[in-house]
Amino acid sequence: MNRELISHLAHAHHPVAAPLSDTAVARLLDRALPRGTERVLDLGCGPGEWLLRALRDRPGTRGVGVDISATALDRAASTARALGLSDRLTLHRQPAADHTAPHPYDLVLSIGATHAFGGLLPTLDALRAHLAPGGHVLLGEGYWEHPPTPGDLDTIGPLADLPTTVDQVTAAGWTPVYGHLSTREERDDYEWSWTGSLAAWALDHPDHPDGAEALATATAHRAEWLGGYRATWGFATLLLRRTTA
Ligand SMILES: C[S@@+](CC[C@H](N)C(=O)[O-])C[C@H]1O[C@@H](n2cnc3c(N)ncnc32)[C@H](O)[C@@H]1O
Repeated sequence: MNRELISHLAHAHHPVAAPLSDTAVARLLDRALPRGTERVLDLGCGPGEWLLRALRDRPGTRGVGVDISATALDRAASTARALGLSDRLTLHRQPAADHTAPHPYDLVLSIGATHAFGGLLPTLDALRAHLAPGGHVLLGEGYWEHPPTPGDLDTIGPLADLPTTVDQVTAAGWTPVYGHLSTREERDDYEWSWTGSLAAWALDHPDHPDGAEALATATAHRAEWLGGYRATWGFATLLLRRTTA
């Protein structure tokens, strides 16, 4: 069972592939898009929910999404068609690091996708290359709220704590102008939704060749979360501007 299909099924009831509520996403987009006429680029856009929400509420906004997952991009395109947004949304299937654009963007997003560039600082460098003067970056990244166990490090990978993460961002020439720290409720909702949607699909498709593997994947993920990183992992979404032009 490939990762794209797992992610597609697991996000059935939590379209944003990150632990943020609808309210938090809307509030961040309101701050990031004050004019409603901005050009937006999302590198690692997944099913495109951030872009779709940005465009849906702002008829003057145009968006470009980049991702390597055909399944996620198909879902983004089909939601865009259903919402009548296709004429303002362009999707590219390619590695984010390979994306070149004919013009800079007022807002560049990377939410839960810094692995596409090899970590936090390379991601900020890459986003900056696409940013118009005075533009915003919206960066969603994990951090350790409490010191991780070796098992958490295996599951999640290397992260810093929140003050260190923000220090790294500011030392690279960025100033946070707003931010959101995912609450315990948002993180729990995301994980219950991820594991629960995948498990429910498996139970609904007992004869599907991928059913047993889907259930095993959901069970293993739930155990890693409840027995491990639920106690240590946090997620921050930072709205950033260049400190100096
Ligand atoms: C956790 S999901 C986040 C999706 C989206 N940003 C959101 O918040 O809903 C991470 C996404 O990064 C994509 N991704 C991973 N490596 C990538 C790469 N090298 N280039 C572009 N996208 C990549 C995955 O396919 C996946 O859709």
